[in-house]
Amino acid sequence: MKIDFRNEALADLAIPALIAFGFEEQPAASGTVADLPEPARGMVEELKQSGELVAKAYETTLLHRPPGLAARALLVVGAGKQEKFTTALLRRLAGVAVRYLRARGVHSVTWLIGEQHRGAEAVQALVEGAILADYDADRYQTKRETQKRIDEFWLATAGKIAVDDERAAVDRGRIVAEAQNFTRDLVNEPSNRMTPTLLAGRAEEMARQYGLDFQALGAADIQALKMGAFWAVAQGSAEEPRLIVLRYTPEGAPAAPVIGLVGKGITFDTGGISIKPAADMHEMKTDMAGGATMLGVMRAIAQLKPNVRVLAVIPATENMPGGKAYKPGDVLTSMSGKTIEVLNTDAEGRLVLGDALTYAQQQGATVLIDAATLTGAVMVALGNITTGVFGWNKDWVKRVLASAEAVGDRMWELPVDDDYRDLYKSSIADLANTGGRYGGAITGAMFVGEFAGDTPWVHLDIAGTRWSNEEKPYLAKGPTGHPVRTLVHLLTHFQGRAEHQANVTSLT
Ligand code: BES
Ligand code: MN
Ligand code: ZN
Repeated sequence: MKIDFRNEALADLAIPALIAFGFEEQPAASGTVADLPEPARGMVEELKQSGELVAKAYETTLLHRPPGLAARALLVVGAGKQEKFTTALLRRLAGVAVRYLRARGVHSVTWLIGEQHRGAEAVQALVEGAILADYDADRYQTKRETQKRIDEFWLATAGKIAVDDERAAVDRGRIVAEAQNFTRDLVNEPSNRMTPTLLAGRAEEMARQYGLDFQALGAADIQALKMGAFWAVAQGSAEEPRLIVLRYTPEGAPAAPVIGLVGKGITFDTGGISIKPAADMHEMKTDMAGGATMLGVMRAIAQLKPNVRVLAVIPATENMPGGKAYKPGDVLTSMSGKTIEVLNTDAEGRLVLGDALTYAQQQGATVLIDAATLTGAVMVALGNITTGVFGWNKDWVKRVLASAEAVGDRMWELPVDDDYRDLYKSSIADLANTGGRYGGAITGAMFVGEFAGDTPWVHLDIAGTRWSNEEKPYLAKGPTGHPVRTLVHLLTHFQGRAEHQANVTSLT
């Protein structure tokens, strides 16, 4: 998608479609609708007064041959109540415009940034919204509708020239959104086309393209490292596991912190011997979404180049039943030395993550964050709208939540507390791999956290948010690429403002 600014006077833009947004409140001309030249602006006001155009959030009104504009059409997008307006909504509105227009055969979209709704933050959000909206999970449809894709996304400045900040924001927005779409592509792949070996191959190709250090450990290495928990899950599958390791080490970056990103990479989760019911089992092709998230994040930071060291570790395997599969009652010795009694082979994510967290620390990570499709319980708690956030270190949790807020990803902290520890005690080993039905997202998270030790750690349970079951006006049905934006924001804000620097020191 070509993305650039257009600085001509609005009336003279001979384009297929110009987009402006307005708020619900009267008077009619608000938002960027207020920046339209007369008589187009008056026409929108008239529609608003008649009640035909209400400007509820995501509402679309298409006006053909708008008076006084050379544009063939004017699309007015509703922005809802002004007091509820955010950059997150602006991102979505750009998506609404893109999906609305491309469904009607328009390939060139021109978004009016006007007087008040511009600047770097707004421009980045608009570019992200447009690129994310121009994505469909239709790769395997032989009549895929690629002809519906948008070719050009213009930002119309109405005569005011774009400043450098805004130009840089276009590049940032593109990098972040393309990384998020990269993650969506990986999550969307079915397990026959996304085995651990193939996932490692995709990671390697990406690492080579963007200059990241890549390594993939195989079955023999995993056993030699004594990753007894990861190996137990892997041994039931005919597909070889991979421990994917990526490193971003910018020249001149301080030795610490080293941010360890750990992503669950179960390329298919049958549940193993504690097998899952048939209904919806196909959805378990997405059980590597945490790993795919971390690959997207690495892809973005390799281009955005923050001055901080990052290490990504992705334990990739299938969870299968079979003659060699691990079984309920088995006792495993993890890489950390902690022993685990397996009560349910479907609680495999916490096993592979535990060893991956130990490995990340051994490789020098001083701060940890993991993303995993860990529990059905988090979906019961938060639905598929909000990611569950967990961690002992409140400063680190707060910073993740602040980044989520800044980029429009929904996240909510759930408690981790010693009182829950008894729930996953084992009578014969150090830990049991399940904590029962109640508080399942919490006990799952805490089990993972046992392997972080004293290292600041945050866990993101993305079981609900990895996938959207419905098409949204601004986003296709399917993989979401959540929470790539949050983590990219987090990593790119380690440098810069003084208070960030202070916080980093407290985490090293
Ligand atoms: N991958 C699943 C969690 C999941 C469920 C992700 C639905 C996405 C959608 C995970 O491995 C799992 O099976 N968790 C079990 C844990 C239980 C056995 C303690 C669960 O949530 O039922
Ligand atoms: Mn499972
Ligand atoms: Zn799983």
